[in-house]
Amino acid sequence: MEMQEIRKRARELTKGSCRVCSVCDGRVCAGEVPGMGGAGTGAAFMNNVKALAAVRFNTRLIHNVRHPRMETEILGLKLALPLLIGPIGGISFNLGQAMGEADYQREIMAGAAAGSIVAGLPDSAPPEVLETSLACAREHNGLGIPFIKPWGFEELEQKIEMCAQAGCRVIGSDFDSIGLITLRKMNRPAYAKDSEELRRIVEASHRRDMRFIVKGVMGLEDALACLEAGVDGIVVSNHGGRVLDFTPGAAEVLPRIAESVKGRMAIIADGGVRTGVDILKLLALGADCAMIGRPFAIAAIGGGREGVALHIQTYKDQLEQAMIMTGCQDVNQAGKHLLFQ
Ligand SMILES: Cc1cc2nc3c(=O)[nH]c(=O)nc-3n(C[C@H](O)[C@H](O)[C@H](O)COP(=O)(O)O)c2cc1C
Repeated sequence: MEMQEIRKRARELTKGSCRVCSVCDGRVCAGEVPGMGGAGTGAAFMNNVKALAAVRFNTRLIHNVRHPRMETEILGLKLALPLLIGPIGGISFNLGQAMGEADYQREIMAGAAAGSIVAGLPDSAPPEVLETSLACAREHNGLGIPFIKPWGFEELEQKIEMCAQAGCRVIGSDFDSIGLITLRKMNRPAYAKDSEELRRIVEASHRRDMRFIVKGVMGLEDALACLEAGVDGIVVSNHGGRVLDFTPGAAEVLPRIAESVKGRMAIIADGGVRTGVDILKLLALGADCAMIGRPFAIAAIGGGREGVALHIQTYKDQLEQAMIMTGCQDVNQAGKHLLFQ
């Protein structure tokens, strides 16, 4: 299966919801939420891509790095490279019903397993979405990270229990989905949580032997509040620019956050990552692991699990090449020294 064939098929099947642009940067789909775009002017989505494009490397050629180490472990999960697949929900209303929700999650999970990485799984207003996610997680021995919406505590605790029953070891909540227009349209808005509520959510997860991560952190204050509440990891993310227009790109805010919390909890970052070279950029800026959203949706729709696995292999090859060119022996040793500043 060729990349071009996957992209052509995805373009046809999404029926205009995703134009599968040569560079997926949010310009053509600006404002298309529901859809694949960023909110409003699309500035937050575009800022993700621009912020990464502005990061430059130092070339290093005199060294003995021949087979750089890409494997890593994050939150107890072993990964062939520091990459997670971002949770994507609402295939019916975001992606022109290109695939059934269950088929989509199944192909993503199988592709992730083939590439020895782990996928995020969505939750949404209709209960079937989390049920489908957890059925997939169960098929893969709990190796998937469900991201529950920040509902009221009772519903959250019930869903945390469902994740535990499915054998999940890590769960998360996309706290930034309080800005999602799609939830408001379904008359099921989610709510912000204060520190005490966050602590209760963390405790409910830990009681069930699951680690808990917060997705959508874009500032140091929230990162420190997560740390204080006992959160195990954060995803530095603006939800692919879908929840608030005019936020900076994730790569812009990441260094300040990493400076304070690195090593004290896991740092995952996403938004605009399009190559293995971008993965190395996020690691150099302070992330422990990168996450990719839209390109994997295109891969799954256009090529199923094989398409997903092919994408993972491509990112891995690109990452390896970038590590050799920057003299980086181990993904866990990537840091600011790799960057031209
Ligand atoms: C159509 C669509 C649906 C998404 N659904 C979810 C979701 O259900 N839960 C979530 O945490 N993030 C969701 N996201 C955000 C992604 O997980 C990820 O943070 C984002 O896409 C990363 O940016 P990128 O697409 O530029 O890689 C969604 C993104 C898109 C484009």
